[in-house]
Amino acid sequence: MKALYFNHFGDNSVLEYGTLPDPLIKSDEVLVKTDYIGLNFADIYRRRGHYHIEDHTPYINGYEGLGTIIKLGRSVTGITLGTKILFVDVPFANAELVAVPVTKIIKLPADLEEETAAAIGLQGLTADFLAHDLAKNKKDDKVFIQGISGGVGQILLQMLVADGIEVYGATSSNHKQQLALTQGATEVNLRTDKKISRENGTFATVFDGVGQTLEQSIALTQTKGAVVFFGMAGGDPPKVDLIKLLEHSKSILTGDLWDYLTSQTERQNRFNRLANYFIEQKIQIKQPQIFNLAEGKNAYALLESGKSNGKILMKSN
Ligand SMILES: NC(=O)c1ccc[n+]([C@@H]2O[C@H](COP(=O)([O-])OP(=O)(O)OC[C@H]3O[C@@H](n4cnc5c(N)ncnc54)[C@H](OP(=O)(O)O)[C@@H]3O)[C@@H](O)[C@H]2O)c1
Repeated sequence: MKALYFNHFGDNSVLEYGTLPDPLIKSDEVLVKTDYIGLNFADIYRRRGHYHIEDHTPYINGYEGLGTIIKLGRSVTGITLGTKILFVDVPFANAELVAVPVTKIIKLPADLEEETAAAIGLQGLTADFLAHDLAKNKKDDKVFIQGISGGVGQILLQMLVADGIEVYGATSSNHKQQLALTQGATEVNLRTDKKISRENGTFATVFDGVGQTLEQSIALTQTKGAVVFFGMAGGDPPKVDLIKLLEHSKSILTGDLWDYLTSQTERQNRFNRLANYFIEQKIQIKQPQIFNLAEGKNAYALLESGKSNGKILMKSN
């Protein structure tokens, strides 16, 4: 099979495209021929050597894809060859073929287009658990999102607005600012804008997946409010002074989506909940940017540049 892989950690130059042996499936796995492969910020952390990665030589990055089941493991029953499925937590996905454990299969709802399903899988499930498991905001709460027009940010913004929550945010360009406003944000500032500090102490929840912005996020949070810290796309966060948090009863909540995807039922129910926002047209996202897997290096470069504003997918054929 063709795959995008690397032999040592480093910058984008370590990525290579070429032929590797096909994966061998275990008895409780299916073999999936990928149509779309999702690129995520964690793939950059892994390529840099800054994040957990499965043991494999060479390393094949990626955990998310949508494709067709072309082979069934010996003990697999109740699944038909040719079924299209999505997965968001299966390693070695930057490849034409992926061995997917049955428990990690997510079936596609009938009314959702394949390209949309591929584009919303991991980022959408992330937005869903940030909003519904961690933050749990009440109707009319005011919340703030750092990097509001990133992949997770765009879905989170619209999901919260659909849930009746008032959303503010910060971003890096006028173009992204306009995008967030058209997607229902009440007010969006450029990250460098000094006006943001006028809102200190205002927000019930501040969602921060940028990392370097953590001190600003804590300042923006109201007494008894919480920062939901979920990633470091802009660099590692500074150390937190717990005494300062204590003085205003502020909290920092964190979470990793994979700790919430504990069974096949949990994966499917969460994805169905997410898909309904799209089927009911409460969330609309920009068309994903699509690269051939052979040009995967360019996809990584775009994500790492911080200039993308939506999902980046790769196609293996
Ligand atoms: N905890 C979890 O389970 C989980 C799961 C999935 C993703 N995540 C995290 O969620 C965050 C967002 O992921 P995503 O897939 O939405 O990525 P994304 O589409 O690239 O969005 C990240 C955003 O961060 C902002 N940013 C600020 N400084 C940046 C820099 N130096 N380089 C790149 N981006 C920068 C950019 O927004 P502006 O230009 O608007 O500032 C960018 O759009 C990441 O930190 C990721 O690790 C966490």
